[in-house]
Formats: sequence, C-alpha cells, structure tokens
Amino acid sequence: MMELLKKLSLCIAPSGHEKPIRDLILEEIGEYIDDYVIDPLGNLIAHKKGPGKKIMVSAHMDEIGLMATFVEENGFIRFCSIGGIRPANLVNTKVIFQNGIIGVVGVEEKADPAKLKVEDMFIDIGASDREDALSLIEIGDVAGYYTKFALMGGRVTSKSMDDRVACYIAIETLKNIKDCPNDLYFVFSTQEEVGLRGAKGAAFSVDPDMGIALDVTKTGDTPEANKMAVKLGNGAAIKIKDGSILCHRDVVDILKNIAIRENIKWQPEVLLSGGTDAGAIHVSRAGVPSGGISIPCRYIHSPSETVSMDDVVACTKLLTAVVTERFSS
Ligand code: CO
Ligand code: ZN
Repeated sequence: MMELLKKLSLCIAPSGHEKPIRDLILEEIGEYIDDYVIDPLGNLIAHKKGPGKKIMVSAHMDEIGLMATFVEENGFIRFCSIGGIRPANLVNTKVIFQNGIIGVVGVEEKADPAKLKVEDMFIDIGASDREDALSLIEIGDVAGYYTKFALMGGRVTSKSMDDRVACYIAIETLKNIKDCPNDLYFVFSTQEEVGLRGAKGAAFSVDPDMGIALDVTKTGDTPEANKMAVKLGNGAAIKIKDGSILCHRDVVDILKNIAIRENIKWQPEVLLSGGTDAGAIHVSRAGVPSGGISIPCRYIHSPSETVSMDDVVACTKLLTAVVTERFSS
C-alpha cells in the first residue's frame, strides 16, 4: 500500500502536464470503474454507476512546479513557478524535469535572503553553456522536487502529498466499494494549483448533486504555528471553510454524522487561506452543495510534505462510507 502512495507522490506532473500521473492512476483504477473519460482539460473522470445520488469526488492530480523560461549563456536555467511555490522552499533543493534531467536550484549571491524571488534564482543542470543546456531541456519544460519518500514512524514525508495522498485515498476508496448505491464520478482533476481550473470544467460536465473535494489542509500543531484547530494524527478533517468556499451545511452535517456513526476519527477544519476543487464545484451551473474531506499536512508546498497514515486511513474510511451511504430521497 505504501508502494502505491510512493509511486503517486514521486511522479512528476505539474499543472498542465498531468499525463504521467493520469496514466498511472488510470492503470490503478481500470478494473474498479465502469467507464471513464479524459476531458478536454485533461481531467480523468472515472464513473462507477449506481441508482442514487450523483456524487462528484475530486482529487487534483497536478502538483506545483517550475517551468524553464530562459537559458543564460553559461547554461544556467531561469524559471518561473507553476502554482504557489515559496522561493525559500527552493533554495539549493534538487529538482527533476519531466524528462528525467536533474538540477539544483541556486540563488544569486546578491539576493536578499529575506526577500527571495524566483527571478533571483536559477537551475543548474550541470550544463557547460547554453547550447549544452538546450540539448538537455527546452524552454517550457517543467520540473518538480527531486526528493525521497520516507517514513517517520506512522508518518510519511515526501513531495506532492498535495494532492497525491488524496489521489491515493480516492483510488483505495474505489477499490473498497462493493455495491454502489450512488452514481459516482471520481475526478482526478488538472490545474488545481493554478486556480482550480480543471475541476471547473469537470463539475460542469458531471453536473453532480453533491461535490466533495479531497485535498490536504494545514495544521496548527507546530511550534508557534498560526492558531488552527487541525492536528496531524487527529483524524479526517471535515472542511467547513477555506479561501474558496463556505461549505454547504448539509454536506458538512452528512460528513460529520457519518464519521460519528462509523466511529471514524475526525476534526473540524477552518482553513483561512488557500482553495480546493470544492471552490470550483460549488459555483458550477446553478450551484452544487459541496464540502471537503481534508488530510492534515505539514510543510505544504515544500519537498517534505508530511502526513499521518492514521489520518489517511480515517479519510479513506470516511470517503468510503459517504459514497456508499443510502441517502433518503
Ligand atoms: Co497545493
Ligand atoms: Zn492541493
């Protein structure tokens, strides 16, 4: 089970370049779904048929990354960020391009460490000059963190737990479903990190009765952290609000009541900033009652995103219970 999470996490697929991760997910879920489409924005929309409520579950499969913008004469690559990369998280880290070329992110010596910008940085791929560099990568090529997947007790630390841990939970949930009382659309969405773009189109085409986003959320449990009532290891976080949505009260109640009934460890989540696919789903068409199940995660958008496997199990149980619930009416 860790092997799958590891594979998902280490796959390099920044926003707009999701093919490798989509192929991997499709291979995993193929035998557990009735049919699927890959829509014009690259979303993988997997369908598991059932007579009841039409539920859209969305886990984004893209990740934050870097894109080559210019190559200096001496072979160093300038880049822009894709999604919310904090420059401080990049200093001297290793990155890997989608074609396998590895680099180190360096910083100009004159740069003010307190006000780091990606414009002050470059990627060193070991090239001797521009021509050499351009024989290895092209302008527009994308890279992600090059890091190890590691266990720390019951916790996992790796790149792209945002949001591959959610892809993992969605995949495991699909495997868990025996009979299917609801009409389920599991969306592995694209371009979340650049503004919930994939989920927007997917929500329009699925036209669900209820939307549930699966994503990581911050925690308030590290030294001097901002006050937040989410703690690593305290269970599935049931979203009440984030920067993109005020969750539908009925959906919050459904999630809470099922968690309580099934004895699944849960905690309420009020996230002050940052959005999720729920933000795009709930304003689709005439509006869709939506909410979220979130995985508590430390060091979000760094190469060392850290989650608790107990929480992953709790989230999987909760999602499985919700999508197989026999709703009245
Ligand atoms: Co993110
Ligand atoms: Zn995310």
